[in-house]
Amino acid sequence: MSKERMILLGAGLALLLGAGCARACFMAGHPAATCQVSALGSGAAYGKVTFTQEDEDVLVEAEFHGLTPGKHGIHIHEHGDCDSVDGASAGGHFNPTHRQHGMAGMEDSHEGDLGNITADSSGHARLTLRDKWLKLSGDDGILGRSVIVHAFEDDLSSQPAGNSGPRIACGIISAAVR
Ligand code: CU
Ligand code: ZN
Repeated sequence: MSKERMILLGAGLALLLGAGCARACFMAGHPAATCQVSALGSGAAYGKVTFTQEDEDVLVEAEFHGLTPGKHGIHIHEHGDCDSVDGASAGGHFNPTHRQHGMAGMEDSHEGDLGNITADSSGHARLTLRDKWLKLSGDDGILGRSVIVHAFEDDLSSQPAGNSGPRIACGIISAAVR
């Protein structure tokens, strides 16, 4: 290989790396949080939820496996404590402004209300939503709280928790950068 050719190759590589960094550096500007959710008791459900600040909204992305097919309530609960077998240690729905239980993103709902995830016949579920009430930091933020998945569907109206049955999976929300 000629010397000129090697220099060209080197310059090309530097350009590629430069482009990669520009993208990564831009992405790193988003405050975010992540939550690994594990089965409670003898359950089989597990998954991951990420929260990313995007302007005024928090983008919530979740993926779960091992669920029974159909809808399952999913919420942020007050305490980051998944130690009890039934998930009771996580407390009630995260609700710093003392509102009613309801539909994710609506004015009359708990900050922690994320609605339902819907599992397909193989027990796999995905969720993407944007929520303007969630905060990543501060006293009313979601860091250090928990995500709970329930056995049944959240009806989005029954008080205080949507009648979604036993808690089947739990995880603690921690800070991340995306
Ligand atoms: Cu819940
Ligand atoms: Zn609620």
